[in-house]
Amino acid sequence: MSDKKTVRDVNVKGKRVLVRVDFNVPLDDGQVADDTRIRAALPTIQYLIEHGARIILMSHLGRPKGRVVEDLRLTPVAKRLAELLGRPVAMAVDCVGEEVEAAVERLRPGDVLLLENLRFHPGEEANDPEFVRRLASLGEVYVNDAFGTAHRAHASTEGVAHLLPAVAGFLMEKELNFLSKALENPEHPFVAILGGAKISDKIGVVDNLLGKVDALLIGGGMANTFLKAQGHQVGQSLVEEESLPLARELLNKAGRKLVLPVDVVVADRFDAEAQSKIVGVEEVPAQWRILDIGPATVERFAQELYVAKTVVWNGTMGVAEFPRFAAGTRAIIETLAESGAITIVGGGDTAAAVHQAGMVEKMTHVSTGGGASLELLEGKVLPGVAALADK
Ligand code: 3PG
Repeated sequence: MSDKKTVRDVNVKGKRVLVRVDFNVPLDDGQVADDTRIRAALPTIQYLIEHGARIILMSHLGRPKGRVVEDLRLTPVAKRLAELLGRPVAMAVDCVGEEVEAAVERLRPGDVLLLENLRFHPGEEANDPEFVRRLASLGEVYVNDAFGTAHRAHASTEGVAHLLPAVAGFLMEKELNFLSKALENPEHPFVAILGGAKISDKIGVVDNLLGKVDALLIGGGMANTFLKAQGHQVGQSLVEEESLPLARELLNKAGRKLVLPVDVVVADRFDAEAQSKIVGVEEVPAQWRILDIGPATVERFAQELYVAKTVVWNGTMGVAEFPRFAAGTRAIIETLAESGAITIVGGGDTAAAVHQAGMVEKMTHVSTGGGASLELLEGKVLPGVAALADK
């Protein structure tokens, strides 16, 4: 369980509470295209409203690199949040400065103000002490509910926590409880599924998980490098040549724990409309490339998943954005939905696939953090979490 203090442990009544949320959401034509992260922050915001706090929300959106980018203003987010809360959300002109301070002064208990994109200022990502001081001066209590950004040591996620009483919000608490519990004290058999394009992004994760799991199932582009390391010909598939020695080392270390595809879906080119067929891993044609796991692999993975008590999953099994190469990912989602195990899905593409399949309710927990959940699986301490007060 998370050992960090939460909003329940501080008095917020009448206080100016500065809340870091992760409202880094996809926009489409000036509208919020997916409000999952906004919804995920509602329990903390609603609790603060009910307890009479004066609420100052802050977030980044995209990567404007320290400049004002009109398309990355948080106005559409304020609009969506107001709809979800059923009450007005004031939008600040900036995230620091006199006008913002005046807007904060006007807040009455239960009012909500959203600051403008933090990354319009270079001081945010630089964790610049002067920017930290200006942000912190807006609040009396700091709440971090931005799990998705907790792997960044930025002003609003880390710096501010050193200047104000700093506690976790409910989303942060929930994410840490699920992910840390699964890693520290899982019910066995504990099975991890890893996928996604690159092995180099996940080497630390494979290494850390091998010491904890009973089986590690590998699909997606990253499986190709392992298959090649085993001596298979993988045709035109994406392979990270420089990671081959490490893949060999991990294969030796893992022994039977590491389960690789036995068959794959190959395509004659990288295209949603490419010609495709299912072949064994020893039969990949020289001019073709692997874009998904095959049905025999799904069966093999399912054998492990049916008996598992805890499953952690990060990374799709194929090119899930092409419907023709999404079957492997879809089959894993369905297998998990039917299993009685505790199922924890990392954020990013994997979470998007689960959302798209309409299966979020069937999982125990779908994380709002992509990079952040991956770093936890890697065994790293997240700076945004480390900076919060211990219980
Ligand atoms: C995310 O979407 O993963 C977080 O909001 C962090 O965003 P960043 O990768 O731009 O820091």
